[in-house]
Amino acid sequence: MTVREALSAAAARLKAAGVESAPLEAQLLLAYVLRRDRVWLTVNRDRAVAAADRARFQRMVRQRCIRKPLQQILGETEFYGRRILVDRHVLVPRPETELLVGQVVERWRTRYRTILDIGTGSGCIAVVLAGELPRARITATDISARALAVARNVIVSNPPYIPTASIPGLQPEVAQFEPVTALDGGSDGLLCYRRIAEGIGTRLRPGGLLAVEVGDGQASAVAELARCSLPGAAVETVEDYCGTPRIVLATVPQR
Ligand SMILES: C[S@@+](CC[C@H](N)C(=O)[O-])C[C@H]1O[C@@H](n2cnc3c(N)ncnc32)[C@H](O)[C@@H]1O
Repeated sequence: MTVREALSAAAARLKAAGVESAPLEAQLLLAYVLRRDRVWLTVNRDRAVAAADRARFQRMVRQRCIRKPLQQILGETEFYGRRILVDRHVLVPRPETELLVGQVVERWRTRYRTILDIGTGSGCIAVVLAGELPRARITATDISARALAVARNVIVSNPPYIPTASIPGLQPEVAQFEPVTALDGGSDGLLCYRRIAEGIGTRLRPGGLLAVEVGDGQASAVAELARCSLPGAAVETVEDYCGTPRIVLATVPQR
């Protein structure tokens, strides 16, 4: 079987399984198996695929056909220009979260020293911030009052924000393969924001920054929580590439 035949058979199977961009995903999987890039596949369309590679490729295609996320199959993804390892225990980093990281990087300047990443999952936020802001002291952790005490300069979080009842209706890649603890934000999706808001009032320094990613339709409620728990803070929202308010930022006033 040639590269072209392998790709075309795989793309047909992926398409039948409802995978969007089936030809592209077939290429990404075969390129991964052969340790080549997609250009190589195009240039070498008539080259034979060795039996062992073919078997591995077909195994991966079968996994993708049951809608296991591509990134989980590959074991990695790209986030903010860096390679991040992922498996079924962590949320696959999303492009919206790159926006959150970009906001923190942009606002860092020289005024912050410590950062706490609450609910770090794959570590994507902390890893990228560590690379982009080499002078920052970064703690990546879970949600707890003790953890909150560690960093008082910037608190960044992409917490679980999907309302519990909406989870079964998400696309299969998410609902069936990603950890529910990374998705479930309680009955209205706001549970984690309330927990963060409860702990934050006395913990951010004057001039400190809270930066969180929010779900669709949640920005105004989260902004209100930030205003209540950080009186006097300048609260802003930032839209994602679709024009949906996606990031809430609250800067504590300087004394
Ligand atoms: C939406 S995921 C974000 C993961 C990663 N920061 C990202 O942006 O891709 C939320 C993370 O918070 C963690 N988490 C949720 N509730 C938690 C809790 N009560 N205690 C500790 N961690 C929690 C989950 O395990 C998950 O890794």
